[in-house]
Amino acid sequence: MMPRFQRVVSADSSAELAIQTRDLNLWYGTFQALFDVNLKIRQGIITSLIGPSGCGKSTLLRSVDRINERLGSVRIKGTIELFRQDIHAPTVSLAQLRKQVGMVFQRPNPLPISIRENVLFGYRIHHEKGGRIARSEADGIVEEALRQVLLWDQVKDRLDHKATVGLSLEEMQKLCIARLLPVKPLILLMDEPCSALDPRGTAAVEELIWELRGRYSILIVTHNMAQARRASDECIFMLMGRVVEHAPTDQLFVVPAHRETADYIEGRYG
Ligand SMILES: Nc1ncnc2c1ncn2[C@@H]1O[C@H](COP(=O)(O)OP(=O)(O)O)[C@@H](O)[C@H]1O
Ligand SMILES: [Mg+2]
Repeated sequence: MMPRFQRVVSADSSAELAIQTRDLNLWYGTFQALFDVNLKIRQGIITSLIGPSGCGKSTLLRSVDRINERLGSVRIKGTIELFRQDIHAPTVSLAQLRKQVGMVFQRPNPLPISIRENVLFGYRIHHEKGGRIARSEADGIVEEALRQVLLWDQVKDRLDHKATVGLSLEEMQKLCIARLLPVKPLILLMDEPCSALDPRGTAAVEELIWELRGRYSILIVTHNMAQARRASDECIFMLMGRVVEHAPTDQLFVVPAHRETADYIEGRYG
């Protein structure tokens, strides 16, 4: 299978890192879900995260924007840095972190308000002073975000329609990506963003993600190995809470360095 997208291959280990974890361990109560995770995820590329169900992919992703911590039982040891800044440092606020990091989930989850207000929702929270943005500014923001996700032409005549009716799943997922962009995040985390979509929708959203590459650092969980192979620059393989291998995608799929990686990509795990 040939990669569909043109990749940047760089051996430049000094490239700026978007995410770095050091000896990251995580427990849900007494159950340990992550073990000594040391990752260096480069800026501006797409990194995919693969591994069997339950290996800790979502846990790792949710640690990066600290949504795991809403669960009182979660305990973390080790550090996570975004652009070399420790996300747990007392000087870093959650609001600041959430501005830097956007998250896309498995099921598209637009809010039951208009398409336009969905796009403006996060922006209002982060930017609004006293409750208002000028109409012309709002219009510009909405159009730019919807153009970036290749959705503008389909929805420009129905911006005031409710986003939860009349949009396909693919369009909803694009909208969920669009609403992150006005906040100007640096990192986009995506947890199986295509798993609810049909093959055509998957291809369209993959194409969009590839479009966003360069402007954002993207970490995408997928159980679809063809997708990881087609549409990521680097790939991380996890197994039972540990990182087994992190390599340029072509290398990981063609000449995996570990037996476990080879077994997984050849379909010997669930
Ligand atoms: N909220 C939670 N409480 C307790 N255990 C959890 C919770 N979320 C996930 N786990 C467990 O942590 C492990 C990793 O889960 P997860 O990160 O969701 O894996 P993946 O996304 O790779 O399928 C699994 O064993 C799962 O059962
Ligand atoms: Mg998961």
